[in-house]
Amino acid sequence: MSFTILGTGKAVPEYVLTNDELSTMVDTNDEWIRTRTGIGERHICKHETITELCVKAARQALENAGTAPEELDLIICSTMRGENITPSQGCVIQKELGASCPAFDVNAACSGFIYALDIAAGYFERKRVRRALIVSMDNLSNIIDWTDRSTCVLFGDGGAAAVLGEGDDLLSIHLTASGNDEAIRIPHGTNSSPFYEHEEERAVLHMAGNEVYKFATAAMANGIRRAVEEAGLSQSDVNLVIPHQANIRIINTAAKNLEIPRERFFCNVEHYGNTSSGSVAIALDEANRSGVLKAGDIVAMCAFGGGLTTGSCVLRWSKKA
Ligand code: COA
Repeated sequence: MSFTILGTGKAVPEYVLTNDELSTMVDTNDEWIRTRTGIGERHICKHETITELCVKAARQALENAGTAPEELDLIICSTMRGENITPSQGCVIQKELGASCPAFDVNAACSGFIYALDIAAGYFERKRVRRALIVSMDNLSNIIDWTDRSTCVLFGDGGAAAVLGEGDDLLSIHLTASGNDEAIRIPHGTNSSPFYEHEEERAVLHMAGNEVYKFATAAMANGIRRAVEEAGLSQSDVNLVIPHQANIRIINTAAKNLEIPRERFFCNVEHYGNTSSGSVAIALDEANRSGVLKAGDIVAMCAFGGGLTTGSCVLRWSKKA
């Protein structure tokens, strides 16, 4: 047994930062950002906390699934940085929802949603849970260097949630990690110890854009190819691909290297930028709520990110509109 997805929900901050407004902060322009990335705008936290966004997405997903918080047997939050070091963001969500199940966080950067799905699948397989909640949320705007035009144009805040129930809809899932702290890295930045001898680094995102680009294009095509094969399907069976929304050029290149028509790739990067762990989850929620997903569809999802990590999976969508 694996699981079925019973419901989804999303939450993004209210404030929309357009490329034009960003161009007043760093030396860039709408045309460069759109041509190189496909991004037009992103949502940025002003008054919202990551907890408020997590809880909003979770409540929407629970409602969409017809599930009460008391029915939850497990909460996994995928995030790079929750509200606190401890308690985990999962425990904070559990408290806010009034649930009483085990809860914890997983950090696999942008691949976090798929890592969380794989962990949850193990709980279902062992028959330890009947309902699980996954919340994938990142608030990157507070760990971005807003003076670095090569990175600050790429990211946004937000995320989404999914409620899982017993079922057999996960057809394959595949995770990878290849330890690399040079391509993408965000140091902690604070150390309260008077004994520690190393210099503190600024807690902002460092990225080797071109290296990540090459890794990402290969990772997306390879991940989808492998997940489809392991599901015992052919690429033409895939009705919808939900790729990590990092850069439209990465998605277009992956599509060219696969035998899945480009129009089957769900894209919303224009409106959110790269929301890290939230990215695939937001896209899944939008595909669910807009009616793009139909009961019986075969869906392939794929993400890549800091770690370097990748996650890809194929599932059957059973939820009726
Ligand atoms: N606005 C205007 N010019 C910019 C710019 C910006 N925001 N950022 C960089 N440039 C300039 C560079 O300085 C460079 O100028 P030069 O030729 O005079 O040196 C030029 O644009 C080209 O830079 P380059 O880095 O080669 O651009 P690119 O086409 O490779 O695109 C990225 C850069 C970051 C968009 C691309 O490498 C990328 O998407 N990488 C993957 C990032 C990613 O997805 N990370 C998250 C993974 S989860």
